[in-house]
Amino acid sequence: MSGILRPKGTQDLLPDGSPQLKAEFSARGHRHLVELAAQVLENAGASYIQTPMFEMVEVIKRGVGDSTDIVRKEMFTARAQGDEFILRPEGTAPIVRAFVQNGLKQLPTPAKLWTFGAMFRAERPQKGRYRQFHQLDYEVLGSDDPLIDAEAIALMMQVIGQLGVKNIELKLGSVGDPEDRVQYNQYLRDLFSPFEEKLSEDSKARLILNPMRILDSKSPGDQDLISELQPKMMLDFLGEAAASHFKKVCEYLTVWEVPYTIDPSIVRGLDYYRRTAWEIHHEGVGAKSALGGGGRYDGLAELLGGPHTPGIGWAFGIERLLIAMDTEGVKLPEPEGLLLYVGALEDSTLPLAAKLAFAARTKGKAEFSYKPKAPGKQIQDALKKNARFVALIGSSEAETGVVTLKNLQSGEQSTVSQDDLLNYL
Ligand code: HAM
Repeated sequence: MSGILRPKGTQDLLPDGSPQLKAEFSARGHRHLVELAAQVLENAGASYIQTPMFEMVEVIKRGVGDSTDIVRKEMFTARAQGDEFILRPEGTAPIVRAFVQNGLKQLPTPAKLWTFGAMFRAERPQKGRYRQFHQLDYEVLGSDDPLIDAEAIALMMQVIGQLGVKNIELKLGSVGDPEDRVQYNQYLRDLFSPFEEKLSEDSKARLILNPMRILDSKSPGDQDLISELQPKMMLDFLGEAAASHFKKVCEYLTVWEVPYTIDPSIVRGLDYYRRTAWEIHHEGVGAKSALGGGGRYDGLAELLGGPHTPGIGWAFGIERLLIAMDTEGVKLPEPEGLLLYVGALEDSTLPLAAKLAFAARTKGKAEFSYKPKAPGKQIQDALKKNARFVALIGSSEAETGVVTLKNLQSGEQSTVSQDDLLNYL
């Protein structure tokens, strides 16, 4: 490798045929996922939204939360002309910011929005974990009805189902209301404090900022201590309102036959969650990493200075979905073949061959030969390109305003007027 390289943890998304192309960085794979999700989500009433790649840093600090790894360790920030910006690490806080700023409360309620795009977190790169990655994101604003939670989860499962990925586990839990979490965090603080010395440096900080996150620690020492102390779970601390909300979400999913397992200890890596929270796991991506996750965030709009606006949503990592597809051997749909290949037989008919191909592009994929070749060679080239029709044009055809059109599937050949060519395709 020579020349200037791309930054660590970023990837080029490449076309088919690139040497050593990996499934998760296939440009066609990314596009397929976005198109499929767009269809599923728009069929369910969602509208496409797109926010800037960077935000004022406060949107993320306040939205995602000061105690999170994202804010403490993983921010890509930049200063310019006195302001501090951040490359967006996720889509939810920016969408809620946009919802408030643009008066989207006027939209029919609940407002269902979807987006996709690059996100940025300064993590230690490894398979399935990058510094620039891509998310598919769905958000519903304006309702705290558990039916909305269940529909959001069902839609996420529908996206996976339509992609053809099977070996997944939906882990569903609740992080309760803020007052439930205060009690749970106090319980954890009391439980872990006597053993503070045994905790990793990160978890010592978590003990003060957000003890729940200790449970999510990747440090083996922390995990040993957790196994030893066997803490009670968040689900044991749900107040009445959060418990009945959670029960209803589970009931809807059961009625719709959406398979889930209850994870009583779910901890998500963002602070804005309350009540329903979940993750989807796949063994191809590893136990510690999720294909996607989501949850309810009824207090987020207020944190960003807006009016109370309940919300819920989820995001998939596009690269991780592609890894899951690849490990299960699920193939991307084949791109559509050529409709027409136009072969010039002589130099003088090259421009006309090109012009006929341009016109055919209104109907499908059409290419033309950049060099004149004998009819047999042109037909061979068309077959290699998997074309449905080949049109041959020499000087006699050009003079009389026709082409020789061959259907490469049936073998049928005829002379058709150039003006009429599109009607034969
Ligand atoms: P999250 O769990 O932080 O949630 O990220 C969602 C998904 O993005 C993860 O499950 C994973 O697939 C992917 N992802 C995260 N970090 C990386 C990384 N460094 N490299 C590759 N993939 C990654 C959120 O971002 C929330 N905004 C989801 C949400 C939407 N909650 C409510 N609405």
